[in-house]
Amino acid sequence: MKDVLLVYASMSGNTEAIADLIEEGLKEEKVNVTKIDVIDCDPDMLNAFNAIVLGAYTWGDGELPDEFLDLYDEMATLDLSDKQFAVFGSGDTAYEIFCGAVDLLEAMVEERNGVVAQQGLKIELSPDGEEEECKEFGRQFAKTVNLKTSV
Ligand SMILES: Cc1cc2nc3c(=O)[nH]c(=O)nc-3n(C[C@H](O)[C@H](O)[C@H](O)COP(=O)(O)O)c2cc1C
Repeated sequence: MKDVLLVYASMSGNTEAIADLIEEGLKEEKVNVTKIDVIDCDPDMLNAFNAIVLGAYTWGDGELPDEFLDLYDEMATLDLSDKQFAVFGSGDTAYEIFCGAVDLLEAMVEERNGVVAQQGLKIELSPDGEEEECKEFGRQFAKTVNLKTSV
């Protein structure tokens, strides 16, 4: 079994609902998932996993939510070169920078030499009607992780 850490921030529940669907997809591919609200995530947890899914809604003008900043700052101090990531989030196209938090997290992963294993998932508000896309995001990441570790 592969282990995946799934960390998310959600204020009004949309990103959490996406996280739940991604978790379902991962589990369909026989992955062990540790799903945790970023508020409860000790930044040291990043060291314990090689496959990490990050999810955040976007706040302000295309910014990360405040509760993600501790983890984000910790990432800035780490060498992520042995780790694979996938990033998702909920946003609202009424704002100028749609799902900017997804782009910020991906940029940080790449800056610290981590691998962004697949294209980020940006969902308009709730995942209603896009459940399959969210589950597939999880399945796809599970397959990438398996592929990488079984070589
Ligand atoms: C004050 C405020 C600022 C926001 N800024 C952005 C933004 O810059 N870009 C974006 O795509 N969405 C923005 N949003 C929309 C939220 O990201 C969106 O409502 C999201 O679904 C919330 O996710 P959650 O239910 O997981 O908390 C903003 C929402 C609020 C209330």
